[in-house]
This record gives sequence, C-alpha cells and structure tokens, in this order.
Amino acid sequence: MASIRLRQVSKEFGLHSRPGQGAGIPRLRGSASDASPGEPQRVLALDQVDLTVPDGQTMAVLGPSGCGKSTLLRVIAGLESDYRGDLFYDEQNMMDVPPRERYVGMVFQNYALYPHFEGRGNLSFFFRMHKAPDTEAEERIRITSEIMGIGFRALLQRKPGTLSGGQQQRVAIARAIVRRPRVFLFDEPLSNLDAKLRSQTRVEIKRLLHRFAITAFYVTHDQTEAMALGDLVAVMREGRIEQVGPFAEVRLQPANTFVAGFLGVPPMNLLHKVEAGDGVLDAGNGLSLRPPPSLLASLASGDSLIVGIRPESVQVTATEGEEGQMGGNDHSAPSTFWEGTVAKVEPDYGRHIQLIHFESGGHRLIGQADIRARIAQGEKIRARFDAIDLHFFEGESGKRIA
Ligand SMILES: Nc1ncnc2c1ncn2[C@@H]1O[C@H](COP(=O)(O)OP(=O)(O)OP(=O)(O)O)[C@@H](O)[C@H]1O
Ligand SMILES: [Mg+2]
Repeated sequence: MASIRLRQVSKEFGLHSRPGQGAGIPRLRGSASDASPGEPQRVLALDQVDLTVPDGQTMAVLGPSGCGKSTLLRVIAGLESDYRGDLFYDEQNMMDVPPRERYVGMVFQNYALYPHFEGRGNLSFFFRMHKAPDTEAEERIRITSEIMGIGFRALLQRKPGTLSGGQQQRVAIARAIVRRPRVFLFDEPLSNLDAKLRSQTRVEIKRLLHRFAITAFYVTHDQTEAMALGDLVAVMREGRIEQVGPFAEVRLQPANTFVAGFLGVPPMNLLHKVEAGDGVLDAGNGLSLRPPPSLLASLASGDSLIVGIRPESVQVTATEGEEGQMGGNDHSAPSTFWEGTVAKVEPDYGRHIQLIHFESGGHRLIGQADIRARIAQGEKIRARFDAIDLHFFEGESGKRIA
C-alpha cells in the first residue's frame, strides 16, 4: 500500500507520433479537432496535474469524455512513458520503475481477461509470470474467492467467453486483487453492467476497498458511483484538475462554473450576465435576485456575475389554483420569486417530484415541484429561490466568489 502523488505531471500526444516523439513540440490545448487542417495536431492530455491520494483512500475521478482520465491512470500504472513531472508511490519516484514492478491492480472497462484460461488461470497468471510457488498462488486465490463471496468459486472453472458481462467483471476484479496490489486503478469498470448489477458490484468493490484499505483511483462517468466509492473526488477538464476534495465539498462549494455545471443531475442552473445593482442583483429583463446582504456589500455596482442555483433549490408552484408553498421558509435569508413559462415537465416518481424546465426573462432554468402539483407545458409558474442556496461566480473567469 502506498500514498500516490503526482507533481506537475503533463502528458502530450502527437496524434500521428510514435512513442518517444512527444517531447519539445509546441502545445495545443484542447482536443485535436480544434486544430485546423495543416496544423500539427497535438493533444495535451494531462496539463500540470498535481494530485495526492493518501494511503488507503480512494480518489474518484470525474470529467467529460477525452479530458484525460484514462491517461492519468495509465501514467500511474507506468503504461505511458514520456511524460513530464514526477510520480511518487510513497516517497519513491516511479520514473524508472517498470509497470510489472509497481504491483498495480487494474480493472479497465474492457476487462481483457485472458480468453484461453479459465477463471483460475486468469487469477494465477500473475504468479506464474513472477515464478511464485504454486502454494502461494493457491492461498491467494483461496483468500480472494472468500472476499469475492458466494458463487465466485464456480466462475473459476469457466473460460471468459462463457461468462456474462457481470461475471467477467468479478473475475477481472478478483484478478486485480489476487496479486495484493499496492494501488488499485479502476477505469469505468462497471460501465458494461446493467443498473442492478452495477449497484451490487459497487457494493462489492466498496467492501473490498474498505477491507484492504488499498489506495485507489476510480474513474467513472457515474456521479452516484463517485460519491459512493470516493473518499475524495477530482474533477478534470482538458487535462487539468479543476477541483479536488470530499464529494460534499465539491458539490456544495464548486470552485468554478465548470465544476458547478458538471456535478449534479440535472446540473446546476447558471444565470449569466447578472449585475450588481442597488440592494439586489439585476438579472436583466426586469428580473432581480436577492442575494445574502453580505455578498452585496462586497460587490461594486455594475460588477458582472454568474449566479448558480441547483434545480433542487428552485421551488416551483403553479401560479393559478392552489398556492401550495413548498418547503419551509425557516431561515431569515431573503427569497426571490420569479414568474416563468413551463417548457417541459419530467416526473420523477422515485423522488416524488417533477422536474420543471421553464423560461423566465430569457433565462432557461430547471426547478422542481411536488409530484402532485398540476403543472403542464406552456403554463405559467412561480419559482422561488432562497438566497442561502445561491452560488456566485465571477462573470469573466467563472471562479467562485462566495
Ligand atoms: N495514444 C494516443 N494517441 C493520441 N492521442 C491520445 C492517445 N490516447 C489518448 N489521446 C487523447 O488524449 C486525450 C485524453 O484521452 P483519455 O483517453 O485520457 O480521455 P478520457 O478522459 O479517459 O476519456 P473517456 O471518458 O472518453 O474515456 C483525448 O483527447 C485523446 O484523444
Ligand atoms: Mg477513458
């Protein structure tokens, strides 16, 4: 086991280059498709990444497709040479340590089990590679099977081609733990599974991570998974780490509009071009927002802001008929009321709410209403925001203000 630390790690790909040709070529930020024809096409897959995972903890890595998540894992595993910066396992610089000596347990999306071996052969392969005695392999497989739980032993007799996706997944996970790794690297390991199997396997992985307290990176597109498994979460964009911290912190205090808009399903509403005015914030078209007084005091009149509010903090009621006030106004912070027109209604019976997409003064927002509220497309609604739930970002940079 080990803590993992990356210091100023950058990795660039030349789209047509062979390994070893990457150094010293001018950089281009963003995806290759941004480059116009004729320009050398380069992708900065990792851009000065600083990241530390303490011993025994799990770092969930989130970010849009192509932002560098897999590259990050591959650098940690030693599968990418030719990067800049430093990678440490504990205090050991891993620059010259080949992958097979890193004792990394990897589970990738395409599990790449060895098709010719049965489950048992897949598990013992590592020991044969390292010329370990059979008894050691047997003992480790026995312990691993115990960890993997009911029904796992039966899988050991079968070849991958005869196993379901979920069963292959379990063998792949077992193959990663059997070698007693110092570090676990998961790259979207559950994305091929159906929802039920996914949450079951998630529980299994969580148990495993806790039981062995193995330092782990866990890449996922699924925020529920990140929240369930990560002690820490890192949000990436275009090769950079935008924010790292416990999930609650990243969610409650997003460092910028990107993180704010990335986390949450549906994501946070972001209202652009809001200006500091006299005692209120001016959102254009006669709409105003009432922020906490302390924020107003810190702004100069005319400052431009982006205001964020999560859909679950926008309480929508029908303007006609019953005026059901939702949620208690049990804090002294000021509230804002906007009128709007409903664009779409999405019921969510699980949470007993309906998501209301609406338009208000040129802003498009999502809020929620009680499942029983009668609200239909095209109707007028009233939305309430409480000052305490608003997030504020600088208009230019998108950085969090308060
Ligand atoms: N071998 C390669 N050669 C050239 N470019 C590459 C190579 N591997 C990755 N890239 C580029 O580097 C960037 C980061 O890729 P990476 O696979 O790390 O993204 P990702 O975050 O894992 O995406 P996804 O969520 O789709 O798996 C992308 O723009 C990708 O096209
Ligand atoms: Mg990937």
